[in-house]
Amino acid sequence: MEIVSRIDAARIALDALIERSTRIVAFTGAGISTECGVPDFRSKNSPWQRLKPIDFDIFISDVLQREEAWRRKFALDDIYGHVQPGRGHWALANLVASNKVVGIITQNIDNLHQASGVAAEHIVELHGNGAYATCLDCGKRHELGPIRRDFMATGAAPICGDCGGIVKTATISFGQSLPEAAIQRAYEMATGCDLFLAIGSSLVVYPAAAFPTIARQHGARLVIVNDEKTPLDDVADIVLRGDIGDIFEPFAA
Ligand code: APR
Ligand code: ZN
Repeated sequence: MEIVSRIDAARIALDALIERSTRIVAFTGAGISTECGVPDFRSKNSPWQRLKPIDFDIFISDVLQREEAWRRKFALDDIYGHVQPGRGHWALANLVASNKVVGIITQNIDNLHQASGVAAEHIVELHGNGAYATCLDCGKRHELGPIRRDFMATGAAPICGDCGGIVKTATISFGQSLPEAAIQRAYEMATGCDLFLAIGSSLVVYPAAAFPTIARQHGARLVIVNDEKTPLDDVADIVLRGDIGDIFEPFAA
C-alpha cells in the first residue's frame, strides 16, 4: 500500500488512476460533505457526538422518542437543509457525465450527489435519504413539507394517511436493516468495477464498510481518499491522504 500525502502528487496519482480505468465506482462517506458545511460523524468536535442516535426499535416503540427524533430532524434541517454540493460532488458528477464513473455508493443521506446532477440510477444510497419520508408499513412516500407543518402545529409524530402506519424519514437508523435492493446493487457495482474510490469515510460501519474489500477481492484497484487513517488502509493499493476537495478539485471544474 502506498500513501501519497502531498496534494500535487495525490492529484497526479488520481489522474493517472482515472485515466487507466474504464469502470470506476465511488464509495462516499460524510467526509465528502464536510466542506459543504455538513459535519461528519466521528471527527472530534462533531455535533453528532453529542446526540445519541435514537435506535430504530425505540423509534417504533416509544412515541415520545419518535417525537424527539422528528424535533431533531427539523432542527438539523434548519442548519444543514440548504447546503450545496462541494468540489468532491462536482468532480464525481463530471466523471459520471464522462462515463468514467459508472456508479456511486453513498452512506450519506444529504442528497448532495443528486443535487450535483447525478441521476438516481447511478446512485446507491445504503443509509437512505433524508429529503423525504416513507410509511414503514405500506412504503408510501411522504413529503417533509406537510409533515413539518402538521408537526409544528400539533407536536404529534406523523402517521400514514393511507394505512395508519408509522412514518419515518427515509434514512436507515441504527438497528434498522439496510434495504436489500441497495445492498444487491452495491455488490454488483463493487464486483464489476476496475477502480474503487473510497472517499471520506472512516470505514468502521458495516455492512457498508465491506464494499471496498469486496471490490479489491474482485480485482478492482482500491484507492482510499481520506484525511485520516482508516482500518482498511492496508487493504488499499493507494491511500491519498489529504483534503477531498483539494484532491478532486482538478476534476470539479
Ligand atoms: N477531506 C478528507 N477527509 C475528510 C474530510 C475532508 N474534507 N472531512 C472529513 N474527512 C474524513 C474524516 O477524517 C473521517 O475519517 O471523513 C471521514 C468521515 O468518517 P465518519 O464521520 O465516520 O463518516 P462515515 O464514514 O460516512 O460514517 C458512516 O456512520 O453514523 C453512521 O450512518 C452514519 O453513514 C454514516 C456511517
Ligand atoms: Zn402507509
